[in-house]
Amino acid sequence: DKGNHRHFMLKEIYEQPIVVAQTLKSYVRRLDEQVSLPTPDFDLGSIRRVTIVACGTSYYAGMVAKYWFEQFARVPVDLDVASEFRYRAPVMEEGGLMIVISQSGETADTLAALRHARAEGQKIAAVVNVPTSTMAREADLLLPTHAGPEIGVASTKAFTCQLAVLAALAANLARAKGRLNPREEKEVVRHLAEAPAAINGALAYDEAIEAMAHLIAPARDVLYLGRGTDYPLALEGALKLKEISYIHAEGYAAGEMKHGPIALIDENVPVIVIAPSGPLFDKTVSNMQEVQARGGKVVLISDYDGIQAAGDGCMATITMPKVHPLIAPIVYAIPVQLLAYHVAVLKGTDVDQPRNLAKSVTVE
Ligand code: M6R
Repeated sequence: DKGNHRHFMLKEIYEQPIVVAQTLKSYVRRLDEQVSLPTPDFDLGSIRRVTIVACGTSYYAGMVAKYWFEQFARVPVDLDVASEFRYRAPVMEEGGLMIVISQSGETADTLAALRHARAEGQKIAAVVNVPTSTMAREADLLLPTHAGPEIGVASTKAFTCQLAVLAALAANLARAKGRLNPREEKEVVRHLAEAPAAINGALAYDEAIEAMAHLIAPARDVLYLGRGTDYPLALEGALKLKEISYIHAEGYAAGEMKHGPIALIDENVPVIVIAPSGPLFDKTVSNMQEVQARGGKVVLISDYDGIQAAGDGCMATITMPKVHPLIAPIVYAIPVQLLAYHVAVLKGTDVDQPRNLAKSVTVE
């Protein structure tokens, strides 16, 4: 049932404040402000290396998580798309944890990677949305997302719930490794607890984004740029746009532009820049200005301060609530999803059932 929404995708985008809150409830305790995961039958503190494997949007959630595991827990992280993972003879030593991330829990490549890692003696954690799925059954540590059934082929609410779980897992691992003191843990919990309201704040810009979609719909190619945890979001934005609007889109690390893709820039290639204000803002903005200096038309997604500082000269801006960098990827997912959605609606595509795609990819 789509409720009063035109598509499942839009309904699912709008469910995010609730389902992220629901998911967080199982992973953080508000009372004593601690992260609380189901207890694994192995010692998290003894994990020496993490391997994250997934496909598509779930892979981009894993890419955000890599930054968090390294930053908070100081654990080395290997990250790969599931379809490539086994074929490069990955080195998996004792004390390794594999994390698979999957909405369906049935994606064939991801499942094959799980089994390969298990055979190599890895512990397996699974972040899945379908608790009865094969991956859920085969994991040593099941970390469910509580997004509820996701019907739209384009993944939206599963992604933000995956990020919520992975942030809690990163904090838990950091604590187990003695890298997060109680005060820092409380701060992490407080930031995470702000996510649902911040997502609501982001949804308030839906109409503005809908109006802006007219600027993107005529394009043949679109670029997305981001740095740090906003880089996976740039990739996710491009994937969302490609899969439902059929516009060719690419995500790039902002600093990588000048190594090639900047040659594509002209007034016909809109560039979406994801840049919340924070430690990486100035660097990303200077990459954005390189684009503008070559006649590129930029849409800047930032908060009020960021737009005050760098919004002049942009074709359009999208103002997000000001949030802590930890939850920025969760909050900035919303404009990226809404933009793809509205562009697809303008183009008249089948938003919930895009051509050539299946919700669950059960062939390798
Ligand atoms: O069920 P999974 O999370 O394992 O699915 C992975 C990808 O097939 C999926 O995220 C796909 O990329 C989506 N259509 C993206 O919106």
